[in-house]
Amino acid sequence: MKYFIGNWKMFGVPKSIDILNKINSFYSKDKNIKKYKVIIAPPYTLIQTFARYFKNKKISISAQNCYQKDHFSSNTASVSPYMIKSVGAKYCIVGHSDNRIEGDTHEILKKKVQFALKNNLKVIFCIGENKIDKKNKKTFIVLKNQITKVLDKKLNMNNVIVAYEPIWSIGTGKIPSENELVKTTIYIKKILIKIFQKSPSVLYGGSVDENNVKLFKQIKEIDGFLIGGASKSSKKFIDIIKNYYR
Ligand code: 13P
Repeated sequence: MKYFIGNWKMFGVPKSIDILNKINSFYSKDKNIKKYKVIIAPPYTLIQTFARYFKNKKISISAQNCYQKDHFSSNTASVSPYMIKSVGAKYCIVGHSDNRIEGDTHEILKKKVQFALKNNLKVIFCIGENKIDKKNKKTFIVLKNQITKVLDKKLNMNNVIVAYEPIWSIGTGKIPSENELVKTTIYIKKILIKIFQKSPSVLYGGSVDENNVKLFKQIKEIDGFLIGGASKSSKKFIDIIKNYYR
């Protein structure tokens, strides 16, 4: 099973549901429907309406983040996994570099993953090195640290998806070379197998668009994509899927 996941970041108002509608009508009629899953992560403000509307349809809804506590608490403006689950989301992104930069530590992320799983949300756990790590050839050390400090064998790996998003690639139009990406994905899976015996799905994210998606086709180790910018346009998102299976 491949994944095409759209992370809308700070984008979307109620009428943006039109974008999802278009994606959903393509997806539900696609002859390749059984080969992949479409998940969209709108901002918190839209989760309930979107999840309700798409409840019995093909697209699943994800949150982009959650707070590191289980249920209710006195943290202003925070949203817990329990609250996210209660409005119909099935997935939750955890550890996006945007939020790591804002202060999410390994300890915080560990709690987010644990509480999201406890509330029956599937977790899309993001990892990735920055430009300086890459320049200093620290990519593997950074990735190993990000994985092993947060994921452990007690977690239900069937509900975990890992997304490799090199920070230098997010929103820049730069993507890793095929060779680099194969090596890194294999390395990530090796670390995950050490923890879980078996590897969860590993996705790639960072400047994926309708043109470069063809380059990723050859890389069988990649189980799908976490798409930012291009997921805000139904045409681009649909073209990514079409070009991937062409
Ligand atoms: P872009 O596809 O805009 O580079 O964003 C990737 C991303 O951060 C998805 O989580």
